[in-house]
Amino acid sequence: MMQNLRLTLKSRPVGRLGPEHFDRVEEDLGPLEDGKARVRVVYVSLDPAMRGWVSDDTKSYIPPVQIGDTMRSLGVGIVEESKTDAYKVGDWVSGTPGWTKYIDVAPGDISVVPQLDRIEHYMGVLGLPGVTAYHGLVTEGQPKDGETLCVTGAAGSVGSLVGQIGKAHGMRVIGIAGTQEKCDWLVNELGFDAALNYKTDDLSKGLAEFAPDGIDVHFENVGGAPFKAAFRNMAAHGRMIFCGFISAYNGEKDPDPVDMTTIIRRRLSLKGFTMPDHYAAYPMMFQELGKLLMAGKLKYRLDIEEGLENAPVAFNKLFDGSNTGKLVIKVSEL
Ligand SMILES: NC(=O)c1ccc[n+]([C@@H]2O[C@H](COP(=O)([O-])OP(=O)(O)OC[C@H]3O[C@@H](n4cnc5c(N)ncnc54)[C@H](OP(=O)(O)O)[C@@H]3O)[C@@H](O)[C@H]2O)c1
Repeated sequence: MMQNLRLTLKSRPVGRLGPEHFDRVEEDLGPLEDGKARVRVVYVSLDPAMRGWVSDDTKSYIPPVQIGDTMRSLGVGIVEESKTDAYKVGDWVSGTPGWTKYIDVAPGDISVVPQLDRIEHYMGVLGLPGVTAYHGLVTEGQPKDGETLCVTGAAGSVGSLVGQIGKAHGMRVIGIAGTQEKCDWLVNELGFDAALNYKTDDLSKGLAEFAPDGIDVHFENVGGAPFKAAFRNMAAHGRMIFCGFISAYNGEKDPDPVDMTTIIRRRLSLKGFTMPDHYAAYPMMFQELGKLLMAGKLKYRLDIEEGLENAPVAFNKLFDGSNTGKLVIKVSEL
C-alpha cells in the first residue's frame, strides 16, 4: 500500500508559526477512485500570505484553513496514476496541493502545465510571484518609460521580478532590501539602478539622492520603515501599489504611523490588490512573463529546503529575511 504524509493545522498561532501548530498525519493511500488522478508533489511553495490563512480572519480575501485540514499551499507535481482523461501519467501539474506528499485530484482541481526546461519556473516567474509582480506593476502601476520605481522587499521573489519588469519598461529602479549581499545582487546581477539596505542605510537620504524629483511608482511588499521612507519621498501624482505588508503579519503594531495628509498634499493614488481576484488574466500574464524569461530579462533564484516535515520551521525564513530567493520545500524528486 502506498504511504502518504500530510501536515494538518492543529491550532492557530499567536505570533510566529511553528511545528507545534501542525499534526503529522501518516496514512495508507487506498486505491485511486475512478474519475481521479494521483499526483506526487514535487515542490510546495512557502508564501508570506500563509500566515494569514491560519488566522481566524473570515473577512480576508480567502477563507481561513480549518483546524484539522491539510495546510493550504501552492505547489507543483507529476501525475503518477490516472483514471480520468483529464490527466495522463507523467503530466506536470500546478495548483494548490497543500502540505502533502500525494493528492488525488478530480478534473479541474489542478492545471496541467507545459513541460519546460525546469519545473522550478512554475514556482517563480511562471508561478504566483510572477503574476503578482506583473499584475501589481503593469496592470495597477501603469509604468512609463523614464519614470522612477521604488520596490521594497526588493530581493524577494515578488520584489526582484517587479524591479526587472520595471527595467524592461524603461524605468529607473531602486530596491530596498535587508542585507548588503541582497543589495549587491540587485544591482550587479539584476540591473537595478540602485539598492538601499534598510538595516544600515539612511533611507530618506538615499531615496532623495536617487530620486530628487520623487518616486513615481512605489511597489510595497513589507511595510514598516522602508514603506514610510518611500511614502515621504513620493512625487506629486505618484502611484503607490500595495502588494504586501510582511512586517505586520505576525501581529506587530507600528507605533509611528505616517502622516496621511501627505496623500492629499502630493495627490497620491493608493491601490491594494490580491491575486485571487485576477485568475482570468493569468494566461495573458504567463505569456508576457514567458516572453521576458526567454529573452533573458527575468532572473530569479530559489531557496530550496528539503522535506515536507521541515515546512513549518523553514516558513519563518520569510520573516527573518534569511531566504535568498523564492522559498520552496522540495517534497520529492521530479
Ligand atoms: N497581493 C498578493 O496577491 C500577493 C501575492 C504574493 C505575495 N504577496 C506579498 O508580497 C510580499 C513578498 O512576498 P514574497 O513571496 O516575494 O516573499 P519574499 O520577499 O521572497 O520573502 C520575504 C522577505 O521580506 C523581507 N522582510 C521580512 N520581514 C520584514 C520586515 N519586518 N521588514 C522589512 N522586510 C522584511 C525579508 O527580506 P529582507 O532581507 O530584505 O528583509 C524576506 O526575505 C509579501 O508581503 C507577500 O505577502 C502578495
